[in-house]
Order: sequence, then structure tokens, then C-alpha cells
Amino acid sequence: MGNPIEKIREYVSLREKQLNRPLRAAVKTFGCQMNAHDSEKLEAMIISMGYNLISDERQADLALINTCCVRENAENKLYGHLGIMKGVKSGNPDMKLAVCGCMTQQNAMAEAIMRNYKHVDIIFGTFNLSRFPELLLTSIESGSQVIDIWEEPDGSDLPAPEHRHFAKKASVNIMYGCDNFCSYCIVPYVRGRERSRRLADILGEVKCLAGDGAAEVMLLGQNVNSYGRSGRYTGNGADTEKPVSFAELLNKVCEIDGIERIRFMTSHPKDLSDELIETIRVQPKACKHVHLPVQSGSSRILSLMNRQYSKEGYLELTGRLRERIPGVALTTDIIVGFPGETENDFEETLDLAKRVRFSGVFTFIYSKRPGAPAAAMEGQAPPETVRRRFDRLLSAVNPIILEENQKHIGKTLSVLAESVSRSNRALLTGRAGDNSLVHFTSDASRVGEFARVKITGCKTFYLIGEEVK
Ligand code: SAH
Ligand code: SF4
Ligand code: F3S
Repeated sequence: MGNPIEKIREYVSLREKQLNRPLRAAVKTFGCQMNAHDSEKLEAMIISMGYNLISDERQADLALINTCCVRENAENKLYGHLGIMKGVKSGNPDMKLAVCGCMTQQNAMAEAIMRNYKHVDIIFGTFNLSRFPELLLTSIESGSQVIDIWEEPDGSDLPAPEHRHFAKKASVNIMYGCDNFCSYCIVPYVRGRERSRRLADILGEVKCLAGDGAAEVMLLGQNVNSYGRSGRYTGNGADTEKPVSFAELLNKVCEIDGIERIRFMTSHPKDLSDELIETIRVQPKACKHVHLPVQSGSSRILSLMNRQYSKEGYLELTGRLRERIPGVALTTDIIVGFPGETENDFEETLDLAKRVRFSGVFTFIYSKRPGAPAAAMEGQAPPETVRRRFDRLLSAVNPIILEENQKHIGKTLSVLAESVSRSNRALLTGRAGDNSLVHFTSDASRVGEFARVKITGCKTFYLIGEEVK
């Protein structure tokens, strides 16, 4: 077929001449940071194909939707969006609409979308992102719907994106997929077996980022603590790679000049080693924050979830983290209403949350995922009961989050200014090393810089401060 990127460039420039305007493309992303980072890579491809990247897909000649299926409401968002795009497309019949990501990695889902949404031109999954230019070219040349879902990853490691969402902070994949098979979770089925990237590739990418002026990197994986452990690697020379632990990797990333802060997510409690705790403790660049999803405080439910730790194990681990890393911030994910969760089990979750004193909690109502083992489990509490538990959980954790925030008042924190605040143009918004969100008075010219911010107040979800020179 020749080089599809070159061919699309020719098509784009021809259409631009005919229409006497630039061709525009937009990517809409649902889901987690892994998906957001995939979108950065897809956007880089789109730019190399000659399109002008814009943010509003309703104005685009090429719209790509990168989907998530971790919970049912993520899927509903896609359907809502496809409805909107139908109207948009009727106003621009030349427009191409593509859908990819975790949701369409499921064959049956991809086929149903094709059948029910005839205005979708291209569907692909998570394993063949690199094929997007080829699929787009086929769609342009044939005018018919194109569907391409792979059973296995295509083995290629997409190049690091040249254009990133932020100049100063960047995400770097250290691994793909997941081997944990938590019983509620669809991710292992749509992202495949765990594959780590080679150490040299990761370090090379971080060095490049440092050269381009990035100051903060986020190392991404579904379970970063098991980096290298599966022995499966991606990238050229993967067969000869000698596994190193995540702690060793983190140490090496910390040695790279120019990068000032290193974050990572997500940590699975079952694999968090003492070696890693020590690395976070001694490395000044390693953020003193661990996102450590607990999911439930009941050992019985944790076992049904296949999480492979108990309530006591989690409390012991968080105790060790607090003891060894003074001031460490712990955040978590909790699922309410897992099948079989009793009032007693839920009380255990409340008890754990009160004891650990999280500084941030992402709370989710259990969502049945066809294909994941928990979908076949009995005994889900009625929706009203689950909703009440969800509200009780928020009422329990929010006052603690506020108290944890209050501990910062009077301190001066180093904050990476990320943007001008949306609600108040006189404020900048950024994050402190422990991941606290900070709104502070400063000057718009300071966006992208580290600021020393004196914390003067707080609300439940953010700190308030002023920059001190
Ligand atoms: N790999 C990460 C999380 C990936 S998904 C980890 O293991 O922690 C992010 C969060 O979504 C999970 O931590 C879990 O709390 C939630 N989640 C996953 N599947 C879910 C489901 N079926 N229903 C409700 N929440 C779910
Ligand atoms: Fe899902 Fe569990 Fe893997 Fe996280 S560790 S992605 S919750 S299966
Ligand atoms: Fe992420 Fe959603 Fe996929 S949470 S890995 S985008 S299912």
C-alpha cells in the first residue's frame, strides 16, 4: 500500500487546496492516564499525517474517540458522544469518525458499534494503535466501514509522542497490560498480558524529555511495582533484557539531570517492596506520594476480588510507609457494592479508611463487567443500599481529607504551576510534591515553573496559598 502516512499527507494537502482551508483533526479521550498517553501518541501520528490538531471534535474533519470500559458509565459516555457526532457528521459528510481503545478491543462491542452506528468509519482496539494511518487510508480510499481488532499486541512499541499535552510534565509508559485479574476488572482482557518496556528505552525517553525542558515525569503502568517481573519485554532487543526491579528503575530515573520530580502509578499493595519504600525515602526527586488502591477494607471481599492481600496486610504496609517516609501522602481507590458485600464488610472499609487517613480517595460504585469473573458472582446489594453506603463512605473520608489538608497550612511548598485557574483568572493551579492540588496567587507568566507557595488555607479538595519570592 506504500507509506500510508505519505499518502494521507497527499490527500490532506489536496483537500486543503480544494476546500481552501486547513484540514482539522481532534482526539477525544475517555478513561485513565494510560489512555490519555495513548492519545498523545495518536495525536503525534495525526500531526505527521498533515492534519491541524484542534480540541473540539465537532469542528474536525477527522475525529478519533479513544474509549474506556472500566465501568458502565464510561461506555455510556461513548454512546452519548456517538449520538452527538451523528448530527455533526451530517453537516460535514467528508468527515471521518474513528473509535479505538479499551471498549472496542472487545470484539462483540466493536461489531455492535459498527452495526448500530453506521456513521462510524473506523474501529480498532488497543493492540494495533500503530495501524491507525493504514486504517484511515483504507477508509478514505474505499469509503466503507473499516474494523480491525487484534487478539494479541502487534509487538511494536509506539514511538514516544513528539507533541505532549503539557510542556513541563510528561507521562512515560514503563509497562503495558496487567496480569492480576482482579475479579471485577476488565483491564487485563482489553490490555493483554503484562509487558515491561526495556530499561534503556525508558531512560532514553526520560533523557529526551529532560532535554526538551520537562521537569516532572509520571511513570505509568497498571501495577508499576511488578515492573520486569513477568520477564516479558517489548521493544527491540527485548529477548536479552535483564530484569531490574521497579525500585532500581526509579533510582536510575532519579539520576537523570533536569528532571526534578518523579511520580508513578499505580502501585499494587501486594507487590510494594521495602526496597521501593527505601528509594522513595532517600531519593529527593521521588514524590512523597503513593497511590495505593485498597478497593475494600474487608479481607473476605478482598479475597473474592482476588487482590491477594488482607485488611491487616494493607494496614501493616501503610503503617510501614508512614513510619519510613515522614509526611508521605497516601491516596486510594475504593469500590462500594461488590457482589456479596454485607453491612459488616462495608463497616470494615469505613474502619480501614479512618485508620489509614487517606489524603485523597477515588470512590466507585461496583459496575458489572461482562467477561470479568465477578459478573457471575451472586448477592449484589440493592442499588439504594449501595448508594447509601457510597454516601456514607464520602461522609467518612472527606472530613479526614480536609484535616490532612489543614496540616499544610503555614508551610511553604514547592508547586509546579500547571495552568491559570479556570474559576479565578487571578490564581494559578498546580500540584505540590505530595500531589496536593494548590490554587495560589501569582502571575500567569509563572505557568510551567516551580513556585514556592505559602499555604494560607484549604478546602476539602485543594489548598490555597500565595507565591513567595
Ligand atoms: N491498575 C490499577 C487501577 C486500574 S482501574 C490498580 O490496580 O489499582 C482504576 C480503578 O477503577 C480501580 O482501582 C478500581 O477501583 C476501579 N474499578 C475497576 N473496575 C471496576 C468495576 N468493575 N467497577 C467499579 N470500579 C472499578
Ligand atoms: Fe484491574 Fe486489578 Fe489489573 Fe488494576 S491490578 S488493572 S484493578 S486487574
Ligand atoms: Fe484505562 Fe479505562 Fe482502559 S481505565 S486501561 S482506559 S478500560
